Amino acid sequence: MRGPQCVIVPVALPYVAHPLASRPVVTPQRRMSKPHKPATIAAHAAGALDPQSGGVVPALQPSTTYLRDENYALIRPDNIYSRDNSDNLRQAEKVLQALENADDTLLFPSGMAAIAAVFRTLPNGAVAIVQSGIYWGTTQWVRDFCTRRQITLHEVDADALQTACQTHRADLVFVETPSNPWLKTVDIQRIADVSDAILIVDATAATPILMRPLAHGADIVMHSATKGINGHSDVLAGVLSTRDKQTEIWQAITLDRKTAGAILGPFEAWLLTRAMRTLPLRVERMSQNAQTLAEYLVAHPRIDDVLYPGLPQNSGHKTAQKQMHGGFGSLLSVLVKGGRADALRVIGKLELFLRATSLGSVESLVEHRHTIEPHTGIPETLLRVSVGIEDIDDLIADWAQALETEMH
Ligand SMILES: Cc1ncc(COP(=O)(O)O)c(C=O)c1O
Repeated sequence: MRGPQCVIVPVALPYVAHPLASRPVVTPQRRMSKPHKPATIAAHAAGALDPQSGGVVPALQPSTTYLRDENYALIRPDNIYSRDNSDNLRQAEKVLQALENADDTLLFPSGMAAIAAVFRTLPNGAVAIVQSGIYWGTTQWVRDFCTRRQITLHEVDADALQTACQTHRADLVFVETPSNPWLKTVDIQRIADVSDAILIVDATAATPILMRPLAHGADIVMHSATKGINGHSDVLAGVLSTRDKQTEIWQAITLDRKTAGAILGPFEAWLLTRAMRTLPLRVERMSQNAQTLAEYLVAHPRIDDVLYPGLPQNSGHKTAQKQMHGGFGSLLSVLVKGGRADALRVIGKLELFLRATSLGSVESLVEHRHTIEPHTGIPETLLRVSVGIEDIDDLIADWAQALETEMH
């Protein structure tokens, strides 16, 4: 039997001014009278409400375009077209700006889009110093970009960055701390002190809860908000925050985002605002879990080493203690004793740690990075682990049973 048919009849609608067009403008943000601590900023989403409905959470407004009244004046002068901006985007940026104590914050559709936005400001022939052994996606894109634009690229290990900054006159220095997947720590303040270049810090593994690079001399802090900031493996986003929005580079980045259109959609921004309400709690629990797991694994007879800045024997521990507060993050790398087959056997036996790339989410993840980047010198026995918010006893029990596997 056939169901009722839907017939679409085209209708020519006469233009009538929308009744809302004459309404007064409502500010979608609550005013917060004094600066608050991160947990308060996050829980209240920096004061976001929905005054239209009285809701205590912001509304999701997916409109791509915005009304003008009968005099052709914008109903909201700051809302024209959603490639420029949207309330949901501004709300998420406001939370991040407050958490970073930044002068301005811009969200992008991915972490890579944020990194690309920074590098695209470099003129042909510029000089960049980029830390080596960082997230492979960054290295890969930066190498290709610098080749195409005749930019001199110095890739330098975390330990040699200070000397490199003193040796080369660079326009831009890009560091990642703690680094992914080597978990190396860079002393941000020291690099800022020895270099006149624009200093960009990818602080994805730390989140704005544990580290505020702008307070240590960075010009711009970058995060893949896909990771800990969102923390639920369901939003792809990137963010840049600056110490000074009047700088030439920030003005160029802002203009490029607006005109080239690398902007985060309202739904993703709304989800991000929602997720950030629990960011401090999640980061606290993940860091505690990661610390406990790192201590357990480093003492395990079937583990060669654990790379984690929270371990006192880690070469970056003292620096990490100086610039990170409240923990050392959810990311660690584990070197399994034996060879590739042993590492793959362990990863195959893990039950709670999902075998998937990414980090910083509520569920624990594990990855064999050599499979992804075999040519970068990453050990075949290295398992990169992102520790979630599960019960630590369950997480340890999972590793205990996985490591019981007979080694070959
Ligand atoms: C440290 C770091 N920076 C940047 C990125 C890129 O972020 P996205 O995947 O959101 O583009 C990643 C992704 O894994 C990362 O780990």
